[in-house]
Amino acid sequence: MLIQSSSPNDPAPSEITPRQAYLNRRQVTAGLALMAAAPELLAQSVAGGGKLPRLAATPGTVAGAMVLDKPTRYADATSYNNFYEFGTDKSDPAERAHTLKPRPWTVAVEGECAKPGRYDLDALLKLSALEERVYRLRCVEGWSMVIPWIGYSLSELIKRAEPTSKAKFVEFTTLADRAQMPGLRSAVLEWPYVEGLRMDEAMHPLALLTFGMYGEVLPNQNGAPVRIVLPWKYGFKSAKSIVKIRFVEKQPRSSWEQAAPQEYGFYSNVNPGVPHPRWSQASERRIGEDGLFAKKRPTLIFNGYEAQVGQLYAGMDLRRNF
Ligand code: MTE
Repeated sequence: MLIQSSSPNDPAPSEITPRQAYLNRRQVTAGLALMAAAPELLAQSVAGGGKLPRLAATPGTVAGAMVLDKPTRYADATSYNNFYEFGTDKSDPAERAHTLKPRPWTVAVEGECAKPGRYDLDALLKLSALEERVYRLRCVEGWSMVIPWIGYSLSELIKRAEPTSKAKFVEFTTLADRAQMPGLRSAVLEWPYVEGLRMDEAMHPLALLTFGMYGEVLPNQNGAPVRIVLPWKYGFKSAKSIVKIRFVEKQPRSSWEQAAPQEYGFYSNVNPGVPHPRWSQASERRIGEDGLFAKKRPTLIFNGYEAQVGQLYAGMDLRRNF
């Protein structure tokens, strides 16, 4: 049983609880039907394909009013990105990712499981109820954002695949198509981008299979049409534009580990006590709070989600397993 700590820095319940449950608990009923319909609208808009329709006055704004941390402005969250398949500058993904074609899209589920399969996007969207979750995303570079994501727990998909006892890890492979992704011409990382999780991490309810943000489908630069969001790990573990999920016995080697093993470990849990070899991880800059007098925020262990995920790492030396 996890024990909740009462630190004021802990995430607000609305950040870690499916929005519906949070609202129910607070006995907020007004407007609930409208808000509950938002995932439906999202699914429809995704099914509609093509453009990225904004769903005006959908839960992003409503939920945003209820969390302690104000969500990052949509314009900031969609223009300051890391998506190396489109270049290494923060502005490259927003400028170049229009060449990504998020439909048609298929995700292969394979490896050590009884029920492998290929899911097209619509099938994946219908697999479980979409929820809005407001999570912090903390980049290893020292900045963070607060984003109302839309998706469902990755565990829902994993359970359906029925992993065998040999499945100790999950490996995520993302799209690598030179025709759509100009950044692949650079050898900055080994392509395709690969990330991995231990099975219990992947099964943790906070791990979100993500299709949307701010009440709309994921913009290309944020990893359309489907990505992972792991709020307690550095942002690079949250792989974008996933095409394959594979259950494996051996610990996968992620693209970042491959590129610089001394700097980016497999676990990559947000940890202010373990500096990056080239900079401190003790504090972070919240995107949108960049004014002259903006203070940096102290970085929290597991990005503030210790009460929820700390037990996964009990007994591990997190300095060695960084
Ligand atoms: N996924 C792919 N396929 N390629 C990438 O370069 N960058 C990672 C992660 N997922 C990356 C990726 C990094 S370093 C971060 S910080 C987050 O995406 C950024 O997500 P955001 O742009 O939606 O904030």
